Amino acid sequence: MTPGLPRGQVAPRNDGVNKDASLNDLQPVRGTRDLIGDDFRRHAHVIDTARRVAATYGFDEWATPIFEDTRVFSRTLGDTSDVVTKEMYSFEDRGGDSITLRPEGTAGVCRALVTGGLTQSLPQKVFYAGPMFRYERPQKGRYRQFHQIGCELIGPSEPLADAEVIACGWDILVALGISGDTVLELNTLGDAESKLAYRAGLIAYFTEHKAQLSEESLSRLERNPMRILDSKDAGDKAIVAHAPVIKPFLTEHAASFYAKLQEHLARMGVPYRENPRIVRGLDYYSHTAFEFVTDALGAQGTVMGGGRYDGLVEEMGGPPTPAVGWAAGIERLSMLLAIFPETESPVTVIPTGADAEPVAIDAVQLLRRAGIRAEIGYRGNLKRRMERANKQNARAAIIIGSDEAARGVAQVKNLATGEQHEVALSDLATHLA
Ligand code: HAM
Repeated sequence: MTPGLPRGQVAPRNDGVNKDASLNDLQPVRGTRDLIGDDFRRHAHVIDTARRVAATYGFDEWATPIFEDTRVFSRTLGDTSDVVTKEMYSFEDRGGDSITLRPEGTAGVCRALVTGGLTQSLPQKVFYAGPMFRYERPQKGRYRQFHQIGCELIGPSEPLADAEVIACGWDILVALGISGDTVLELNTLGDAESKLAYRAGLIAYFTEHKAQLSEESLSRLERNPMRILDSKDAGDKAIVAHAPVIKPFLTEHAASFYAKLQEHLARMGVPYRENPRIVRGLDYYSHTAFEFVTDALGAQGTVMGGGRYDGLVEEMGGPPTPAVGWAAGIERLSMLLAIFPETESPVTVIPTGADAEPVAIDAVQLLRRAGIRAEIGYRGNLKRRMERANKQNARAAIIIGSDEAARGVAQVKNLATGEQHEVALSDLATHLA
């Protein structure tokens, strides 16, 4: 007898499957969502549209693993970034290796470029779509498993590449019909020399206001003062409002790079507004930083973000390689969609009588192989099966009884108009196409 249990009662077997525990309270894991029905259709429409537009810009799709060696992210995204310090899903696998579910796609693409020996085959223009994982506090538009589409243009160091990447993002928003809800905010973070000068300027300014800074910002003061500009703390915000901007600290090269980018964007007809406070949450950026924002989604208003990351490929073990890109949250884009393609209405084949069933099976397979969405009514009398066809939103019912089966024909009823015609089975596909 198991101690602590009444006589005759057995303790649940501890083999990972607790048969006595109730499963009635199973829920999706906090911060995850199922994509079903319209949610899935919106999601797929975003990916299909983005893939199509990105292809016109010459981007090829890559798929990299959703988990990587933890160092792919910890080394490169910035050791003061929230993503690395608080949000990574990291674990030791059964072999003792430290693995992380990817919090973003750029690091994995750069890792793949290096390990795949592609650093001498530049430029590489990469499109990707897939799930990402961040342990954040879930709210509307912010999830722990979310999905991104992204574009990375690896190789060119010219501001024209930055402009092209941004224009591609803009054209995707246009194709989705949501560009009117968003504004492109543009900034430069300068080159290494400008960054160093700006950093000193920020440290001097924030040190003067040290007493009013939040604890988190204080901890960033020496390590990464630029991130203080991004603080959500109300007290910090008041101080940030008067902090110096980067422009006067830019080297001539960085300033002319930024000016050229703006010239290209204007030429390509991409509207933008400068926002010197865009610093981005990941540390790998220099020169261009940008976000497409909306006020239609509440607090989580950034739908797309990116910039230039010239040092990342080298940090991944490759040669110095310039690159620029962006990623966008599919959930956030989906929420903005006003229109997306509906599922095609099926036609429903309805056999009446057992001897008609084989003929109906032949007919439904013939239609499917001709590319027509077709269902077969499984059971019930004609009335029940017609009701089911209406429920499936079918456009036509194809009724095949014993008589029709014998004559090689079907009654085709248009469910929108109620009209009915007799059609030879061999002509069904052309009739319905
Ligand atoms: P990011 O700004 O961290 O950049 O994320 C890009 C976009 O992903 C955000 O603007 C947002 O729409 C979406 N997103 C981020 N976190 C969540 C979340 N928890 N729930 C829902 N959506 C979210 C990057 O990831 C960089 N890799 C972008 C990049 C590509 N830079 C250069 N190339």
